[in-house]
Amino acid sequence: MTITTVRQPAPLGLGHAVWCAKPVVGDEPFAVLLPDDLIMGQPGCLKQMVEQWNRTGGHLVAVENVPLSQVNRYGILDVIEEKGQVARARGMVEKPSPDQAPSTLSVIGRYILDPVVFDYLDRKQKGQGGEIQLTDAIAATIEQVGLSGLRFVGTRYDCGNKAGYVTAIVDAALVHPETAAALYAHLEALMGRRVA
Ligand code: G1P
Repeated sequence: MTITTVRQPAPLGLGHAVWCAKPVVGDEPFAVLLPDDLIMGQPGCLKQMVEQWNRTGGHLVAVENVPLSQVNRYGILDVIEEKGQVARARGMVEKPSPDQAPSTLSVIGRYILDPVVFDYLDRKQKGQGGEIQLTDAIAATIEQVGLSGLRFVGTRYDCGNKAGYVTAIVDAALVHPETAAALYAHLEALMGRRVA
């Protein structure tokens, strides 16, 4: 396997970070994985997405519903119709306030994107929070290639906050053969201490 790394020289936004990889990606569909979203699923979320993308093409994002009070933390889809696990969207908004949100269907950090997003990102236009947003590049190119959201099967951990990060580690350790028995014993001891 060959790994090429590209450094984003300044924190100008997720869209800018993706744009920095443009020379490596070239003119092909590509995947974006945000590592602070950990997804445990069988098969893995990206594999589920590749299978769906083979049917729909265009832009495909992983989605799940969030409480209305949390829509301001995510990219939110403006949905046209839902069929099974797939939502077809006419728009996407970055971190809207609850009263402005077109739905509660939020984007989780897995994307398969058409390279047409680079046409928008080339302009370096700032969006929400003064950052160059990947969401805006996707929204601006929906008419050209379409946008679908896949309700993936699996559990997603938001490792961008401390509680989510710890929860992910505990759940991963509870299913790992090297750590499961010791961690269960520790948790049982903790629970016993709490009851006593
Ligand atoms: C980014 C994206 C957002 C997406 C989220 C998923 O936001 O900009 O659209 O919903 O990842 O985790 P960030 O978490 O970087 O603020």
